[in-house]
Amino acid sequence: MRIAVLTIFPELFEPFLSTSLVGRARERGLLEVAVHDLRDYTEDRHRSVDDEPYGGGGGMVMTAPPWLRAVRALSGEGPAGRRSWRVLLSPQGRRLDEAKVRELAGRGELLLLCGRYEGIDERVRRLAVDEEVSIGDYVLSGGELPAMVLIEALSRQVPGVVGLDKSVREDSFREGLLDHPHYTRPPEVEGSRVPDVLLSGDHAAIESWREREAVRATFEKRPDLLDAAELTAEQEKELERLRAREGVREGM
Ligand code: ADE
Repeated sequence: MRIAVLTIFPELFEPFLSTSLVGRARERGLLEVAVHDLRDYTEDRHRSVDDEPYGGGGGMVMTAPPWLRAVRALSGEGPAGRRSWRVLLSPQGRRLDEAKVRELAGRGELLLLCGRYEGIDERVRRLAVDEEVSIGDYVLSGGELPAMVLIEALSRQVPGVVGLDKSVREDSFREGLLDHPHYTRPPEVEGSRVPDVLLSGDHAAIESWREREAVRATFEKRPDLLDAAELTAEQEKELERLRAREGVREGM
């Protein structure tokens, strides 16, 4: 997968892009990320990227011409013969979720535009953006952290990046459920013990426990996800049991 990033703070990306899973994916050539400085596409002596707003008011607005020049230069036909899909990170965008991550990963080539929150000339959005994406209903000062969030989520969808394909499949949100709990040594921490089944060596029993625990975690923490989740017969049974138990408690 190829990702280009356009920002006025390219230096923010370096440590992130060289570390951990994303760093290794880049070293192995599974993921290509190129970060470009918007100021390289300015034409004035001061390399300015913003100006006063028409109509007055506080704050500066990012001016359209550098964005349009940069987007034309960077999203041209890639080696796959496709123009890259241009995503503006903005709190006004559609909220990112795992389905959107997978859809964007499928596009193969992305250009991520990191605006500053104070404002960006509306014509950038109209002329140079295919889609706006938000990472959540809160406001950050710019699209740089959201772009990193998106890059990390995308990298996990690239085949071969996450060691075992299985571990992506079983991760939170894969079947629309949260992950089951995990334990490692020691077997007891301050009186809290690892569930016996995990020490039993019975792989079928462990798998079944994990499936039930995924339902329980989702039921307790994010019940809103259950409607769309794909459940096995055993998980359906567990959900019924949890609902019945809750019904009993409410009736008390
Ligand atoms: N820029 C500022 N806030 C943002 C958010 N929540 N998501 C994406 N881009 C942003």
